[in-house]
Amino acid sequence: MIVTTKKLFEAAYGKYAIGAYNINNLEQTMGLFRGNIDSKAPFIIQLSKGARSYTHKLMLEGLMRSADQVFPEAIFAVHLDHGDEATCMDCINSGFYSSVMIDASHESFEKNIEITRRVVDAAHAKGIVVEAELGQLGGVEEHVKVSEADAKLTNPEQAREFVDRSGCDSLACAIGTSHGAFKFSGSQGLHFDVLEEIQKRLPGFPLVLHGSSSVPQEEVARINQAGGKMGGAKGVDATQFKRAATLGVTKVNIDTDGRLVWTRVHREFFRDYPEKFDLRDPGKVFMAEYAKFIVEKNEYLGSAGQLDAVRAVLSK
Ligand code: G3H
Ligand code: 13P
Ligand code: ZN
Repeated sequence: MIVTTKKLFEAAYGKYAIGAYNINNLEQTMGLFRGNIDSKAPFIIQLSKGARSYTHKLMLEGLMRSADQVFPEAIFAVHLDHGDEATCMDCINSGFYSSVMIDASHESFEKNIEITRRVVDAAHAKGIVVEAELGQLGGVEEHVKVSEADAKLTNPEQAREFVDRSGCDSLACAIGTSHGAFKFSGSQGLHFDVLEEIQKRLPGFPLVLHGSSSVPQEEVARINQAGGKMGGAKGVDATQFKRAATLGVTKVNIDTDGRLVWTRVHREFFRDYPEKFDLRDPGKVFMAEYAKFIVEKNEYLGSAGQLDAVRAVLSK
């Protein structure tokens, strides 16, 4: 069942965070639904602009609609990840998305509010909710390049005003993470002090953590042993998610770790079975491994086992 992130956040706030997983294809979709059903977790499907144009946006929509039928017990939101204004409007008008992210975080404070407000007005008119971003993550996003040095943490003083004036339903905050597999050069962690200050000013308001892949070192080692070159890859300590959840983080975005599962499975598969050429053979391994990966993530997030409680909130 497709629901809005608003409903999922109501159930989760202060207790656990919901995994928001970036999806691009059939095998990921199958593993995603299987894993979330196995762990009885609500979840958010994130579709980026790049994912929508990888094949065709309607192919992705078709996949999600079919998955909804194949797995009727699943409860999830369909969310546009890092949208620009035009893509947000396209998704709002599609009648399919329950949630969009407008990412104008690279603009000035005023311009960010202005753009976000336009998207919010269009989205709310159709019952769709909006995530916006204040502050800038390090690393590389789809249409914005931000060097690590220029990464700007969210200013807690501005957060309240931004939410009030933009009307957004959730806020992505920059608290030290970055996108991709190379997040920290030292032992840098999350800035919980900044998160606490933001929550103080926005009590009860859902916050979002981007760039939350853990880049597990065992995964990186297996990729490298099977021919990869990912020296120095580093991510967020997943044991920190529950603390972040108590401070208002209700959505945790994970893409890179899923890509690492894909890379490890395929590198190892073709190393171990050089004679094979049926794409379904590694595909089956990947679907099972991706489902396992989702189950493990949901344990860290605390969303595992929450499906019945979410159903109860939805029936109110
Ligand atoms: O934050 C960006 C996500 O990891 C999506 O990546 O734009 O390459 O699909 P993508
Ligand atoms: P990662 O690159 O850490 O997986 O972050 C994904 C993300 O923030 C998608 O919006
Ligand atoms: Zn992101």
